[in-house]
Amino acid sequence: MSNSRVLSGIQPTSGSFHLGNYLGAVKQWVELQDSHDAFYCVVDLHALTSAPDPKELRKNTLTSVAQLLALGLDPERCTLFVQSHVVEHNQLAWVMECMTGFGEASRMTQFKDKSVKTGTDRIGVGVFTYPMLMAADILLYQANQVPVGEDQRQHIELTRDLAGRFNHQYGKTFIIPEGFILKEGAKIYDLQDPTSKMSKSAESLSGLIEILDTPAANTKKIKSAVTDTGREITFDAQNKPGISNLLTIFSALSGRSVAEIENEFAGKGYGDFKAAVAEVVVEYLTPVREKTLELLDDPTHLGQILSRGAEKAQAVAGKTVRDVYDRIGLIPRG
Ligand code: TYM
Repeated sequence: MSNSRVLSGIQPTSGSFHLGNYLGAVKQWVELQDSHDAFYCVVDLHALTSAPDPKELRKNTLTSVAQLLALGLDPERCTLFVQSHVVEHNQLAWVMECMTGFGEASRMTQFKDKSVKTGTDRIGVGVFTYPMLMAADILLYQANQVPVGEDQRQHIELTRDLAGRFNHQYGKTFIIPEGFILKEGAKIYDLQDPTSKMSKSAESLSGLIEILDTPAANTKKIKSAVTDTGREITFDAQNKPGISNLLTIFSALSGRSVAEIENEFAGKGYGDFKAAVAEVVVEYLTPVREKTLELLDDPTHLGQILSRGAEKAQAVAGKTVRDVYDRIGLIPRG
């Protein structure tokens, strides 16, 4: 394992992760635990921005942890924890908020999109300060790299700016992190609307492949995925976004190259191709679903993993906050 450190987070905002979460981020998390000192957290504080029902949030947080383990995170090889268990996240977030310009925060596209949808009067301040909490998540651990999907790129840029600003003003304190964003798979699209990203906040669930959904439901969704005009199974993101998205999914889950799959399906129809994609997806996800349900049967075991994770995370985060507080002039408690 190198000394290089990675950190990433995922929100427990729904009963299941979707294929975009897995292919854009978690699949890389699993791989990076062998080569890096890896910290991964379920960001329950971030989830509060969508005002979840408390019972749902509790359940979704545990289900998120179980899914991450079922997808291949190994608490012996990475530090897996829940964000709210490590109070330093809030402590550093406030420092980051005080360093961020109002205009700078207003330019974050996720905030802009949500405020257009909801209206600025009704949108929570937490949606506005969300990226500063995310910057704190990353900087607390002195992470070198942050494995995420394409939609998080702007947040990583802000994090880099804030780290640089702090270092410039108070002396070198933070590592400036880099995004670890794949060329392929960093953006998985909705099956019904292949020009929009697959997202749990989509209006309809019919374009969303959920990790914990039944094989029958996922097969049905893939078979009714929107395809494009023409008949060839070729990758062309511009003119054939639907087929290209399915090719990306097929390739990422089977480990085969897109070219190889195109060759196999040369001369065959969309129907055959979609049936094959469904088969690969179901074969991949069925054991994950089973393992997740099995892990959820033993919440005590999950609690133990999280307790150990929080302890390891806090050892690193505590040191960063002590350094930061000292540099900005907060005096220690006697
Ligand atoms: P979240 O919970 O929305 O998504 C978790 C991860 O999944 C990726 N992702 C996608 N990748 C490809 N295609 C898609 N359709 C797709 N949809 C989601 C996201 O890019 C993300 O990597 N702000 C973050 C959570 C966060 C975080 C952090 C991440 C909080 N603190 C610190 C990294 C480091 C978010 O809302 O992700």
